[in-house]
Amino acid sequence: MGDENTIQTVTLSTDRALIVTFGNGKSIRYEDCWLRDHCRCSSCYHASTFQRAHHILVIPDVTISSYEFDSSQIYVTWSDDHKSTYRAEFLIQFDYKTWKESRKLKPILWKGASVENKVTKIDVDDFLTTTDGAKRVFQSLLDYGVALITGVGVSTEATEEVCKALGGVQHTIFGGMWEFTTRADHADTAYTNLPLAVHNDNTYFTEAAGLQILHCLQHTQGAGGETLLVDGFFGAEELKRDHPEDFEFLTKFNLEAEYIEEGHHHTYAAPVIKLDSETQEPVQIRFNVYDRAAMAFKNSEECRSYYRSLRNLAKYYEDKDNQWQFKLKPGTVMAMDNFRVLHGRTGFSGSRVLCGSYVSRSDWLDKARSLGLIQ
Ligand SMILES: [Fe+2]
Ligand SMILES: [Zn+2]
Repeated sequence: MGDENTIQTVTLSTDRALIVTFGNGKSIRYEDCWLRDHCRCSSCYHASTFQRAHHILVIPDVTISSYEFDSSQIYVTWSDDHKSTYRAEFLIQFDYKTWKESRKLKPILWKGASVENKVTKIDVDDFLTTTDGAKRVFQSLLDYGVALITGVGVSTEATEEVCKALGGVQHTIFGGMWEFTTRADHADTAYTNLPLAVHNDNTYFTEAAGLQILHCLQHTQGAGGETLLVDGFFGAEELKRDHPEDFEFLTKFNLEAEYIEEGHHHTYAAPVIKLDSETQEPVQIRFNVYDRAAMAFKNSEECRSYYRSLRNLAKYYEDKDNQWQFKLKPGTVMAMDNFRVLHGRTGFSGSRVLCGSYVSRSDWLDKARSLGLIQ
């Protein structure tokens, strides 16, 4: 097998494309409009900011007048006399299959407590001060949607340091870093000591939180309050297998969610299971039985499908075999992917104080990408 970063042959097709064969035998077709748009000369592209220089309306619809190539580059002269040079290692990236595959996240689905031995548990100093430690945390979030950071100072300030390293605190109506006890600052079930069935947060926001960070700072004079986690993607796959019509419904029906308190009224409607339009794989779960808004339905079939499909999906999420239940202790910060993993807690007694924050999905994926874990 030859080197993929060398050019073997180049031909100009009769329908305005260059067909390039690389040293590894791969042949890729580039339309002339694409090539002109991807000219990397200094007047077409600002290399320092990685931005294109021209509006798409001023990029001319020109044809290739002539071209030459050597083993590493192709030189094109356009019908308006502009000249472009394309490097082999630039062009080879745009083989569609490889390109698309490289952009796909590859979650490893899990069921119940079996994931406990797989998720990263790492000392806070390793996470904050070493690249390898940071990679292990983000890889665990990408693979399983959960990571645990141990040895953290038992304070909101120490937790905030961890949140910053995970991508930065996302501000919402609940604040940036929040702290909650059983006192009711917000009109939300989370601020009581009742059990909380597993759910995703912020189904009523146009952009739900990306990560949820939780740190139990104190639990005294009582019991319970164990964390429940379940893999939302796993449940969706089970539903697809056992009740394909329910899966189909939940990927299409726009379920409205809402959050109301004095001075606030959030609402958002979207499918409970969001699929990638091309791969048809789940990319986001919006499951929260508490925050469902009162809705009108088109007809009786839609109304009955809504109840049937939500109940069927809820059965997987509420199944103890699918849940990972554990007690979060002071010093351990849990980070979980709110687009995928559902969280809940058992009821509790005593005095319990938690702190945490959200991190936006854009911000934590930015960290993972900068570490070279994703494209
Ligand atoms: Fe929650
Ligand atoms: Zn140019």
